[in-house]
Amino acid sequence: MIMNAKDQDELERLRLNYLGKRGQLTQITKEFKNLNAVEKADVGRIFSESKIAIENALQGAKVQRLKGSEKIDETLPGKMPTLGHLHPVTHAIEEISSIFEKIGFVRVRYPEVDWDWYAFETLNMQKTHPARDDIETFFVDVPEDKRFGKQVLTPHTSNGQVREMERVKTPPIRMINIGKCYRRQSDISHTVMFHQFEGLVIDEGINISHLKGTIDHFVKQFFGPKRISRLRPNHFQFTEPSFEVDVTCDICLGKGCKLCKEGWLELGGAGMVHPNVLKAGKIDTEKYTGFAFGWGVERTYMMKSGVKIDDLRLLYGNDIRFLNQF
Ligand code: DAH
Repeated sequence: MIMNAKDQDELERLRLNYLGKRGQLTQITKEFKNLNAVEKADVGRIFSESKIAIENALQGAKVQRLKGSEKIDETLPGKMPTLGHLHPVTHAIEEISSIFEKIGFVRVRYPEVDWDWYAFETLNMQKTHPARDDIETFFVDVPEDKRFGKQVLTPHTSNGQVREMERVKTPPIRMINIGKCYRRQSDISHTVMFHQFEGLVIDEGINISHLKGTIDHFVKQFFGPKRISRLRPNHFQFTEPSFEVDVTCDICLGKGCKLCKEGWLELGGAGMVHPNVLKAGKIDTEKYTGFAFGWGVERTYMMKSGVKIDDLRLLYGNDIRFLNQF
């Protein structure tokens, strides 16, 4: 009967007929007082089963009727699900990898939690170097290893240098190591976690002109043909000579403007691999020389023309309004 009801009104009438105050089922409860305990249990069970069955039938009929009245306009355009996209830093990493891979570099990854041995000791950094202090570096609270020392969250991707020499053993080596780095710093141009890309080339007869040529190639590919690079003398323990690499400002292209002041923006460090580092990696220093560079991915990306991010921390804030712009 319920299933055959014509409309909502008839369904409501039927509901009252069974379950209403004076409904047929409700009448049964009034007889309860005249039953003994055994009868009460039996009738009670039948009563609640019937009540559930009627309620289900009424609900079912309602749904059926709603479905019948639903009209679907199949010509309406569908609702597009929101699609996500890769994070800008992931895009930058992919672009950087592909530029270097095209000129024969091999993309590798090394541990982000590594030994002091690879992060500092084999890189010719003396025990008193400020980066080895916990003012800059996160040390892991585990017992020291006799040979490899403490464990650290890698403060730079240079820990990949000696690891790559150990992996390849005999040059040529053309490594591009991109990974996460950690330092105790947070302000508009620093986040505690960031990425670096580290290049390392070792072969016979490698000299500074190979370093400059590789950097120029990268700068043209990544920043566009109008931007140029320059090397400035600097000091790093693991390179000799060492340089700071600059690229011309995307706005004034080297002339000097309000934003950059002198026309140049600082990309990061580079240099010729120090013989002590080659020795630590068991490379024959009589036969081979090499160059290396290590720069921040986020920093390099922010210097791209048209990228206007004035606070690096925005990249990791996960604010969808910011990320949607990329
Ligand atoms: N590891 C250095 C840093 O994080 C950057 C660097 C400088 C890497 C010179 C190099 C290099 O490979 O040759 O500050």
